Amino acid sequence: MVKKICGIGAGYVGGPTMAVIALKCPSIEVAVVDISHSRISAWNSDKLPIYEPGLEQVIQQCRGKNLHFSTDVEKHVYEADIIFVNVNTPTKTSGLGAGKAADLTYWESAARVIADVSRSNKIVVEKSTVPVRTAEVIEKILVHNSKGKIKYQILSNPEFLSEGTAMQDLLNPDRVLLGGNDSLEGQEAIQKLKDIYAHWVPQDRIITTNLWSAELSKLADNAFLAQRISSINAMSALCEATGADVSQVSCVLSKNTKLGSKYLNASVGFGGSCFQKDILNLVYICESNGLFEVANYWKEVVKVNDYQKSRFVKKVVTSMFNTVSGKKIAVLGFSFKKDTSDTRKTPAIDVCKGLLADNACLSIYDPRVSEEQIRRDLSMNESHWDHSIQAKSTSFTSAKQVSVFADVYEATKDAHGICVLTEWDEFKTIDYHKVFDSMVKPAFVFDGRNVLDVDKLREIGFIAYSIGKPL
Ligand code: NAD
Ligand code: UGA
Repeated sequence: MVKKICGIGAGYVGGPTMAVIALKCPSIEVAVVDISHSRISAWNSDKLPIYEPGLEQVIQQCRGKNLHFSTDVEKHVYEADIIFVNVNTPTKTSGLGAGKAADLTYWESAARVIADVSRSNKIVVEKSTVPVRTAEVIEKILVHNSKGKIKYQILSNPEFLSEGTAMQDLLNPDRVLLGGNDSLEGQEAIQKLKDIYAHWVPQDRIITTNLWSAELSKLADNAFLAQRISSINAMSALCEATGADVSQVSCVLSKNTKLGSKYLNASVGFGGSCFQKDILNLVYICESNGLFEVANYWKEVVKVNDYQKSRFVKKVVTSMFNTVSGKKIAVLGFSFKKDTSDTRKTPAIDVCKGLLADNACLSIYDPRVSEEQIRRDLSMNESHWDHSIQAKSTSFTSAKQVSVFADVYEATKDAHGICVLTEWDEFKTIDYHKVFDSMVKPAFVFDGRNVLDVDKLREIGFIAYSIGKPL
């Protein structure tokens, strides 16, 4: 019987996922461990390290009962029956496969700790997104460093939550994917993990596959979602060139039951920590297997995403009389999507850097992202690969070019233009008459998320642009 679970990595996935297991399995002790002291102390405080609607309530309900956050990785790994590894798997920034391959350093160090401290049999669960066949490598590390006759069963259990809706996604998942090997022990391990999820997930939503299918399905899942966004974004460019309206086109597509309605919103580009990283990982795996045509196919999804961001910057600059030098541009929204404070790979970084490279002055407002985070994001150099638009625009250094405001009306005051880069609901209810009155004329709006009523904005007097729509 499973008495204790340890989650290694207390980030966007580890925190919420382990919290939900604790909530739904009150008889199991759940410890979430991390090497980051600041992250763990934030999980133990009133100000959690991440913002996710509904998370705080679950933490309050379980923390100190059957849910614990700790930096004592060794102790909790030693005591656990099942270990979920939720560590980050970013894109490699140097060495072989730099800019594409997944960096498994964090995973490997977690595996080495498991091997070092374990004195009883363990089920090790890959929760992080990893390259296909990672379980094979992990098994080697565990077996070759094992202290005594310890048996490890490695399972793949990729996570499908989206930020901003993580709690809903975890409490009511459309599927839970479990991959394991065919041996008796492998099947017993799968059953143990199934029993955990069975506390709240209906049987028919739990899919079991072999290890490699589970690992690859996660990469395929993200690649397919991102590919839909790049497809509709590619259409948005064609709409602008021909007078078609991308919202009307996506509405038509969404009524096709073969296509469905999700992931058809044209935007300034997709962001987030995973889509780009996972596609590049897929590209690298394809190239490593000599499948260059397949690699190039997926590469285009990222290229179109970069094109969409550059296209947006170009639209702003050309519309504002071919120069934004010295002009104040208000940026509304910095996180990569609404209802999260996460800015990893947010399109706002690329757009802001593009505008700064043209010497614009930016006044940025986001309801959830701190000034410190925004400044850090804009001062960091991106690691380059052969697609990167930042490769051309990293010369920005002046902190004076950027101001961050806690109030939308302050941010837009005296601005020449507004760029909406995140679809926060509150941007729909701003008093745009008041905003217009306080701006330099002609006042421009560039809606990078197609969330504003541009006809109303035009009635007020704005020159308004949206993605993929006629002027
Ligand atoms: P994150 O960076 O927020 O969290 C990872 C945590 O792991 C960090 O706090 C880090 O300090 C910790 N860590 C790293 N090495 C460690 C070690 N050896 N021991 C203990 N702690 C260690 O990352 P995340 O967004 O939670 O993503 C984690 C994984 O889940 C990634 O593989 C990602 O692709 C995948 N994923 C993420 C999401 C998402 O929405 N963020 C969704 C599905 C899957
Ligand atoms: C995505 C997937 O949706 C999850 O299934 C997956 O678990 C997760 O990645 C992961 O592996 O990290 P997430 O990145 O949190 O989740 O958020 P999404 O809602 O998918 O949005 C990603 C980006 O695409 C955002 O920038 C969003 O604004 C953009 N997007 C989304 C569009 O531009 N158009 C759309 O129609 C949908």
